[in-house]
Amino acid sequence: MDTHDLLPVGVVAKRSGFAASALRYYESQGLIHAHRNSGGQRRFERSVLRRLAFIRAAANVGLTLDEIRDELARLPENRTPTKADWQRITTHWRGRLDEQIAALEKLRDGLDSCIGCGCLSLKRCAISNPYDAAADDQGAPGAAYLPPLLRRPHKPA
Ligand code: FES
Repeated sequence: MDTHDLLPVGVVAKRSGFAASALRYYESQGLIHAHRNSGGQRRFERSVLRRLAFIRAAANVGLTLDEIRDELARLPENRTPTKADWQRITTHWRGRLDEQIAALEKLRDGLDSCIGCGCLSLKRCAISNPYDAAADDQGAPGAAYLPPLLRRPHKPA
């Protein structure tokens, strides 16, 4: 491969809108791949920009990193996805969005009982437990009182 055709991380970051640290993270998670030049610097094929656009779209839909990895694995390797490929993918994503909307509606309905309450009880409050304090009690990952689809680990800044 001609290394002159490869993009440095700064260019990829600028063109994709992802921070260089995010690109490093995605690389460490196997979502994107970089080559190393003779100086050990990372260089990316141009196709990484489309892959990153896909990652952003999937994240916007609410897919987890594992789900994004699975979706990427199903994409064709040696060609641009066809209309049929995109139809299959977006049909799945639409179903996923419908599930998330239903989960959010359930959460919103639970909020009605919180208005004017303020107890934030782990036992009875539908919106409490944001730090997974009850996960051990419930034997479930994430905030055990949230609908399963909304149980995402909290990542402090
Ligand atoms: S704050 Fe009391 S039930 Fe949610």
